[in-house]
Amino acid sequence: MKNILVIGSTGQIGSELTMKLRREYPGGKTVAGYIPGSEPKGILRDSGPFEEANVCNAQQIADIVDKYDIDTIYNLAALLSATAERLPLRAWDIQMNGLLNILEIAREKHCAVFTPSSIGSFGPSTPRMNTPQDTIQRPTSMYGVTKVATELLSDYYFYKYGVDTRSVRFPGLISYTTLPGGGTTDYAVEIYYAAVKGETYVCPIAPGTYMDMMYMPDALKAAVDIMRAKPQYLKHRNSFNIAAMSFTPEIIYEAIKKEIPDFKMRYEVDPVRQHIADSWPDKMDDSCARKEWGWAPTYNLESMTRDMIKHLREKLL
Ligand code: SER
Repeated sequence: MKNILVIGSTGQIGSELTMKLRREYPGGKTVAGYIPGSEPKGILRDSGPFEEANVCNAQQIADIVDKYDIDTIYNLAALLSATAERLPLRAWDIQMNGLLNILEIAREKHCAVFTPSSIGSFGPSTPRMNTPQDTIQRPTSMYGVTKVATELLSDYYFYKYGVDTRSVRFPGLISYTTLPGGGTTDYAVEIYYAAVKGETYVCPIAPGTYMDMMYMPDALKAAVDIMRAKPQYLKHRNSFNIAAMSFTPEIIYEAIKKEIPDFKMRYEVDPVRQHIADSWPDKMDDSCARKEWGWAPTYNLESMTRDMIKHLREKLL
């Protein structure tokens, strides 16, 4: 990897991944791709090149690839699960037609491509506990449908054309830099903001609902490491289960209460998000990622909670 294009560089993952890639590859260029209305600001804008890069505009992407001699594309453009239920056609357009644009450009111009998949690629008929790497994927959300199709199309371009596509199935991602939006797992970010601000948190997910979650530094490490993995060891490509922790709303609430004892939470369950959450695994088995490219997370719920609260206190108070 030398010259990298990050599509969706101002989103929850992109805003931090772009900065990490600039640090990891100081000899190359990491271009921050954005869409109008979400232009890069501050350090993201000032630390490297940025270009308008709409995944649905193939010519625009191809021009950036030529201009910067891009060899790797991080394709992070997506509508998250709850938003995709509201705007299914838009989600399909961004996630599928956008992906096809990227894969075609990658085929012509010899780029490697990372397009994240998700716990959302699984559905109600998937084994919920220790969800295997290779298992039933019959999701019932539009987000999930596009993620399974992303995995299949990415593998297809690898087998048919030799495009170096690789991916991980991200759990819900927790970070203090950029808020997610429209996701089912967003509650696990919002809860920290409420706790630090001294507010009562109104949780949209019901007690007892387990989902896989991960702290952003581990997610960024995975996104970098999978693209550096030695191809001869990769039996899978699109996409690897990666896991770090699994909890319910009451478990994360108790973890936060250890640091902020008077924190309060109540439930107002959102039926759309709950329906999606109920169809996702409780806990994925990530042994293939561990074996094939050395995946291992650093943070657990306790260490993430301490770090989130420390950073959010600096940011919000
Ligand atoms: N965090 C995503 C969502 O909740 C899942 O990958 O939609």
